[in-house]
This record gives sequence, structure tokens and C-alpha cells, in this order.
Amino acid sequence: MRHLIDILDLSKEEIDELVETASDIIADPSKYEDACRHKILATLFFEPSTRTRLSFESAMLSLGGEVLGFSEAQSSSAAKGESVADTIRTVSCYSDIIAMRHPKEGAPFVASRVAEVPVINAGDGGHNHPTQTLTDLLTIHREKGRFDDLTIGVCGDLKFGRTVHSLISAMSRYKNVKFVLISPDELKLPSYIKKDVMQKNGMEYYETADLEEKMKDLDILYMTRVQRERFFNEEDYLRLKDSYILTLDKLETAKKDLCIMHPLPRVNEISTEVDGDPRAAYFRQVKNGRYIRMALILKLLKEAENEH
Ligand code: NCD
Repeated sequence: MRHLIDILDLSKEEIDELVETASDIIADPSKYEDACRHKILATLFFEPSTRTRLSFESAMLSLGGEVLGFSEAQSSSAAKGESVADTIRTVSCYSDIIAMRHPKEGAPFVASRVAEVPVINAGDGGHNHPTQTLTDLLTIHREKGRFDDLTIGVCGDLKFGRTVHSLISAMSRYKNVKFVLISPDELKLPSYIKKDVMQKNGMEYYETADLEEKMKDLDILYMTRVQRERFFNEEDYLRLKDSYILTLDKLETAKKDLCIMHPLPRVNEISTEVDGDPRAAYFRQVKNGRYIRMALILKLLKEAENEH
């Protein structure tokens, strides 16, 4: 059974295919409106979400399928002490594909070992978020037209920010991609990612605490929220939460074709005055999330059917 737990579960060719399918859906959504008729997607969200859960649901409904699930652990039998494995075995009996978000790193992987239907990791703790990365890749493709030869600034909570971890993994397979890692000292990118992903693939990177230092070199600026729910104490969060606030002033030296991204939700990291700048791509990014998830659901369901 094919699952999506880590972005590297997909080959480069498969990512190209998904981007191509998503682009075809965008060009003519009506072609796909019955593609998943009578199929059921379960969305199991043990952590809060707006975009990821609703884009999955919107994607399945746009394919003519049905959706069921829960949006907080408290309303499921997890509150009674049921294990992830038992919940998944159960939901496998009611659905054809599962998207799952969980605060514990590795929970979707555990789920995939017992599921009888494809499992998609919709975010596991401070670890990975592969479908946000698919959204980001479709956005990069549409905004920049390439995955090679890019200088990408990632700014904010690089320690707990799972979207950044998956994005760096995905980009490690392309040529001449450089990262500028912008964060306060306490929220630096974990060293396992620097070692096992960046250094191993010969990726160039530069660490700084200063958002403006390399602004003029960036093709993409990927802002992130400080991940309050992963902090051990509120004081540290309060001290770090407003480390970076992107304003029009700070974009003074930036390229005219810079692409500004954010997985959202934003708290304070991007001043709303930036929203009207043509370089602000974060709401276009939201839209892309629905189409790439349609492409992913189609692919995984087709592969599951071929298994039987
Ligand atoms: C991100 C997440 O859940 O990791 N949100 C999302 O899925 N678009 C980013 C975040 O919560 O900061």
C-alpha cells in the first residue's frame, strides 16, 4: 500500500507528475468532478488546522467524493485512551483514504503500518508536513517556473517549523539550490537536517539572525510562525514571537521578482501592508494547496485500486 509520510516517499518524477496533474486541474476542473465518485476521505486531526483540513476536504468534494472525520482529538475515542493504531484500523473500515495530523512525531508512520488504505501525513509534531511541501512546490513552479537555481530564505522558527523541514528535504534533490537560514539562535534549524540532508547532498547554506542581510540575493522568502504549541514555557515564546516582522521597508533591497511565501497561519510575521505587493504569493499558495491535494488523492487512490 502506498502512503505519503515523508516528502521523499515521492520520486522527483512523481512530483513532476503531481504538479502537471494539478496544473491540468487548474486549467479545467470540470474534467475531474466525478473522478472520485463514491470514494471516502477520512480527515483525522488530533491538532488544530484550518487550511490543511479544509483543503483536503475541499479537494475530495471537488473530485466528487465524500468526507468524514474529526477535527479535535477530544471528540474522538483518543480521549478515552484509544491507541492511534486501533483508531486507524477502525477508520480503515469506513474510508478509502486517510489524512492524519498528530502532535506526536512519527504517529502517521505508525498509522501507515496498520492501515488498509493509503495514509497521508498532514503534519506530525515538529517533524514533517509533506502536503504543505507539495503545495509549496506547486507554488514555486507557478511563480518561478523552475526548481533549480534558486536562493531560498527561510525565516522564523526553523527548529519546530515542520513545513521548513519538509521543504528543505524536497529541495535537496534539485541543482544549485541555496538556503539562507534566518532565525534567532534558540530557533535554529536542527543539526540532523543540516547534516543528513544539506551537507549530505552538498547543499550550500548560510545561517544568520538578520532578515535583511541577504535579502537582495533571495529568489524566494519563506516566512514562518513561531510555533507556540511546541514551546516548553510561555516566557520563551513571548520573548521570541516577534523576532521578525516583514514590512515593505525591509523589502527595499529585494529583487523585483522575489516570491514571498508563508504556509500560514501568520501571527505577526508579515505586516498586512505587504499583502498588496505583487510579490506576496501566500494567498495564491493557499489556493494551490487545494489543487495539489486533488492530484495527490487521485494518485494514491489509483495506486490502491491497482493493488487489489
Ligand atoms: C503549518 C503547520 O501546520 O505546520 N500550517 C499549515 O499547515 N498550513 C504552519 C504553522 O502552523 O505555522
